[in-house]
Amino acid sequence: MSHATRTRADRSQLPLVAAATGARPSRRPVWFMRQAGRSLPEYRALRAEHGMLESCFDPAMVCEITMQPVRRHDVDAAILFSDIVVPLKAAGIDLDIVAGTGPVIANPVRTAADVAALPRLEPDAVGAVAHAVGLILDELSDTTALIGFAGAPFTLASYLIEGGPSRNYERTKAMMHGDPQTWNLLMGKLADITIAFLRVQLDAGADAMQLFDSWAGMLSAADYQRFVAPHSTRVLAEVAEYGVPRIHFGVGTGELLAPMAATGADVIGVDWRVPLDEAVRRVGPGKAVQGNLDPTLLFAGTDVVEQHVQRVIDDGDRAIAEGAIGHIFNLGHGVLPGTDPDVLTRVVELVHTL
Ligand code: CP3
Repeated sequence: MSHATRTRADRSQLPLVAAATGARPSRRPVWFMRQAGRSLPEYRALRAEHGMLESCFDPAMVCEITMQPVRRHDVDAAILFSDIVVPLKAAGIDLDIVAGTGPVIANPVRTAADVAALPRLEPDAVGAVAHAVGLILDELSDTTALIGFAGAPFTLASYLIEGGPSRNYERTKAMMHGDPQTWNLLMGKLADITIAFLRVQLDAGADAMQLFDSWAGMLSAADYQRFVAPHSTRVLAEVAEYGVPRIHFGVGTGELLAPMAATGADVIGVDWRVPLDEAVRRVGPGKAVQGNLDPTLLFAGTDVVEQHVQRVIDDGDRAIAEGAIGHIFNLGHGVLPGTDPDVLTRVVELVHTL
């Protein structure tokens, strides 16, 4: 089956790609992390009869859920509906995504033997994802980008080692510091899985990609540099040949913005704690910034939302004056499930007119 994939010239028309590459976008691009999901009644209706992982391996459902926020909000990018643990599941690791909790790993990875036994990801195992990318590209307009994504090795490692979400990451940090050799083997294997998963999406035609290192902000800059950065750097280098914007994001990464930028990403995602112009001083010139409206402010009423959308835009303009090559509007982290979707639609309208 053949699908419409875009040429480099086609892609340069996408506001998201233009902003990420220092060209002039036709409008300021905006999309939201977790735009596909529980804030949308049409998502909840579709998911009522299907498990999360089941949905992620059904190309028609992936396409439909990916398109829902695009139709509703007129965002400038679709993000593939999937999850960071999908490639781990596809590789054969026993895990589930539990509603309200997140990923839960049946047999956490704690020893050198556990690491040695980890499977590789064969591209065919995520063939459903490649198929879904093709279906989505057939539906997207010429000005809406499709963002592929993967979890970065550290965030994936934290789930595998802790067995699920964690508050303190004590077992993760214990392996990192106590057995650096096993840690590096694990991170190397996870980097391989991440690279394979991204390549499948990019081969299928994704226009941009985001590497989520959501929980890297739990680390000191020194630990990040020593134990994490080399592996994320390898992931980003291995997909550079596709020539698409590579976005890198984590939460609470104010102290890590410089080393995260040094991993080679083209766009740095910033959470709400650091204003975008200050972020650029830490990141350095020559990259685009993405962010960073606090997702909780979407609950604070119209006046607050309007005021803070304007502030983020002003910060974005100052960031560009300070050397950033572009600004992609987003939240500082994902859309919270109780968010009123009409508020998201209004944010998009504001970003496009202000
Ligand atoms: O719209 C999008 O952003 C695309 C879809 C997407 C999901 N997960 C769908 C999802 C993306 C990009 C992710 C990435 C992801 N998954 C990350 C990185 C992004 C971030 O938030 O920092 C992380 C850390 C995960 C792990 C994970 N999966 C968590 C923490 C949760 C939430 C648990 C919960 O129920 O509160 C999930 C489940 C998940 N992933 C849902 C969705 C829509 C909820 C599933 C449901 O509907 O029950």
